[in-house]
Amino acid sequence: MRADIVILAAGQGSRMKSNLPKVLHPIAGKPMLEHVILSAQQTQKMIGKGEIHVVIGHGAQKVKDALGHYDLNWVEQTEQLGTGHAVQQAVPGCKGADVVLVLYGDVPLIKSSTLQSLLAASNGERLGLLTINLPNPSGYGRIVRDGFGNVQAIVEDKDSTPEQLAINEVNTGIMAIPGKKLEDWVMHLSNDNAQKEYYLTDVVSKAVTEETPVVHVQPQQATEVEGVNSRVQLTELERAFQQQLATALMTSGVTIIDPARVDIRGDIKTGKDILLDINVILEGDVEIADNVIIEPGCVIRNSRIGEGAIIKAHSILENADVAANCEVGPFARLRPGAQLAEKARVGNFVEIKKSVIGAGSKVNHLSYVGDAEVGSGANIGAGVVTCNYDGVNKHKTSIDDGAFIGTNTSLVAPVSIGKNATTGAGSVITKDVADNELGVARGRQRNVDTWKRPTKDA
Ligand code: UD1
Ligand code: CA
Repeated sequence: MRADIVILAAGQGSRMKSNLPKVLHPIAGKPMLEHVILSAQQTQKMIGKGEIHVVIGHGAQKVKDALGHYDLNWVEQTEQLGTGHAVQQAVPGCKGADVVLVLYGDVPLIKSSTLQSLLAASNGERLGLLTINLPNPSGYGRIVRDGFGNVQAIVEDKDSTPEQLAINEVNTGIMAIPGKKLEDWVMHLSNDNAQKEYYLTDVVSKAVTEETPVVHVQPQQATEVEGVNSRVQLTELERAFQQQLATALMTSGVTIIDPARVDIRGDIKTGKDILLDINVILEGDVEIADNVIIEPGCVIRNSRIGEGAIIKAHSILENADVAANCEVGPFARLRPGAQLAEKARVGNFVEIKKSVIGAGSKVNHLSYVGDAEVGSGANIGAGVVTCNYDGVNKHKTSIDDGAFIGTNTSLVAPVSIGKNATTGAGSVITKDVADNELGVARGRQRNVDTWKRPTKDA
């Protein structure tokens, strides 16, 4: 079955009070519209094929720039004359579709399973409506049924009679229209209503008139059909979604100390018996193996953490690779290209960039290690700095297995320290140190016994 999907995303979203088009505001780190696109793609993959048409208007260029890497047909709606008018713009592109599904760029949490049910209910033969019963239906189009329970029409809030206003079943806006009816129904809408808009919802009475069955499906969760019109709603939906993501992680074997204080903004792969303490943010592609502990206040972005590793409080990892049983932090920063081999330890106030720290090696306090290769079993003392940048170019430092780099050593790259070599504390090392050698490069101590402390001027 060819199911085309039309995503409406032309509205201004003036209540967001933003220079960013509404549909680009993120939920869980991704633009709302991207969530809808992903759900649409997944649905098409499950049921057959189809094209995705995105109707844009306000901020069209910004929307295209942000999501141009997806395979989409962009359709411009220069004037926003209503949801029916928006779908009209996509009608030529939908020629040949068996069914056309209408989605909204500002209703981001719609699930593919729900869309698949709706498409199955329509099957290209019936008009499928996604409806929901709300305790407070105000603002929504009401589903009007006859005495037999058959849908007669959708009446917009502003066009409703007092009896209709009391109806709790509302239109979510999401619907599946038989492809063969699309053009006829959508191209002949009128705007004779309270808002002088072309209402997409008027296709319901067209279906009723020509006796095309109208069926309905309801979503599993109300959040699936919640739209975002303001930043307050954006945050409400974000929190609801975060709760769902946390619940899914807990279900899969992750202990979360407080699901209200963990944020997941990406694609997270997790093992079992992981502990996430409070205020942890997981972003982008993150992989966490079994028995990992992540202490409070950590930000983990596009990183991999091996089995049994512990990331202590307030550490920040970005594009880092931490092997099994490592210890990182507290207050450590692993920048892109930081690679820690098994049982390596990176302690407080240490920054590692584009460097390999070999198995069991330790960089425990107050160091900067950049563009370096550190072998296994090395010990890098407090305050050691790789001087990797000469103001123009970056240079490499190499530290071999078992080396002991004395406290406060400056390693002026390019430089290499041999196997089991040592550097004296406070040295500025500018020349290579061979295996087993000691490199000392600092002024010798001289004690002045005639020294007198200055006294205060009279
Ligand atoms: C619409 C439905 C209403 C339903 C509600 C659910 C109609 C006539 N009404 O009302 O029954 O209960 O959604 O939220 O369909 N858009 C465009 N171009 C336009 C107009 C709208 O792209 O010309 C987009 C908007 O960006 C928005 C969406 O369509 O994302 C819905 O438009 P909006 O005007 O908010 O519809 P509602 O009045 O909420
Ligand atoms: Ca409207």
